[in-house]
Amino acid sequence: MARRKHDDGPATSGPGGRDRPDDLSPAPIPGEIELDAALRPRSFDEYVGQRKVVENLQVFVEAARRRGEALDHVLFCGPPGLGKTTLAYVIAHALGVTLRSVGAPAIEHKGTLASYLTQLTARDVLFIDEIHRLQPIVEEYLYPAMEDYRIEIPVGDGPAAQLLQMNLPRFTLIGATTRTGLLTSPLRDRFGIVMRLEYYGAAELTEIVSRSAARLSLRVDGAGASEIGRRARGTPRIANRLLRRVRDYAEVEGDGTINHPVAASALDRLGVDQLGLDDMDRALLRAVIEKFDGGPVGIESLAAAVSEESSTLEDVYEPFLLQEGFLQRTSRGRIATRRAFEHLRLPMRANQGSLF
Ligand SMILES: Nc1ncnc2c1ncn2[C@@H]1O[C@H](COP(=O)(O)OP(=O)(O)OP(=O)(O)O)[C@@H](O)[C@H]1O
Ligand SMILES: [Mg+2]
Repeated sequence: MARRKHDDGPATSGPGGRDRPDDLSPAPIPGEIELDAALRPRSFDEYVGQRKVVENLQVFVEAARRRGEALDHVLFCGPPGLGKTTLAYVIAHALGVTLRSVGAPAIEHKGTLASYLTQLTARDVLFIDEIHRLQPIVEEYLYPAMEDYRIEIPVGDGPAAQLLQMNLPRFTLIGATTRTGLLTSPLRDRFGIVMRLEYYGAAELTEIVSRSAARLSLRVDGAGASEIGRRARGTPRIANRLLRRVRDYAEVEGDGTINHPVAASALDRLGVDQLGLDDMDRALLRAVIEKFDGGPVGIESLAAAVSEESSTLEDVYEPFLLQEGFLQRTSRGRIATRRAFEHLRLPMRANQGSLF
């Protein structure tokens, strides 16, 4: 069985992050992996949203199938919980091939990678999660495998050791990363298909909530599903997580039905506000405004102020706050926007307003 990145525990865990009981961050939390897998779409038809990405992939997959060739190597970029791993499995399913999955941190040396590569049969998919975390020496070992389907295997020890050239079957590498910026360009250039996943719209997330509810045999009406979808921070993993939490309130305090009032009150109590921001999002914005005078503030200072790792802020929290216009990134650091002040109902001073 292939090892998964989560064998090593959540990769983005930080001091203030994963340990909070009400952790609503988009990264997976322990115990959630199985539930994620149970709700994971298996085919392109079940995969909601990301239409452009899906339509293009369907063409590429169909073309590869007709030619009986391996699909080009694919790289998925985008924040946690948007469906990168899911898409890798969907592709393998559509190709009718086996997927082997490994997290980059689990590939400790070249030999580990070689053992994954040599297990592949023609057209199989090797999925490397968090591919920006490959060690340089392992990454270099991957280049000829991707390009020429060849690797070198050391045989014997000491001065008599020799390098054996080994041909690999034509396979597809699918890489996933939350941080495109951290990928070296030689690695990025070796992917024929590079795709970026975007945050989902409220209607798509509502559909995901409704589908998950049906799979879990929950009673959720349209307004209840849409309230959860609307407040899910653009992220399917969060939509599914909120659904499970709201269900708890509905079962303990009501008759189990999730309608609008039940969903709205449960989400309020979970600390998920009207715009989908959670406690950490608000703590971060509040820190920029109250401790750093609205910014600009560097990521390290901000991380220290909210007791979180800077990489977690950059991977997990910032992208959504930037996209939704609560934060701006400048060369001197992060700035809270007018929208952030207004959302937190904090007064904006004249000089702060002049930044925009
Ligand atoms: N397009 C989609 N339609 C329906 N459900 C989805 C979709 N994308 C993701 N999901 C759900 O969200 C869960 C999380 O998605 P997935 O594990 O693929 O995210 P990811 O991008 O790989 O995240 P990470 O960066 O943390 O590895 C899935 O298990 C699935 O249940
Ligand atoms: Mg993943």
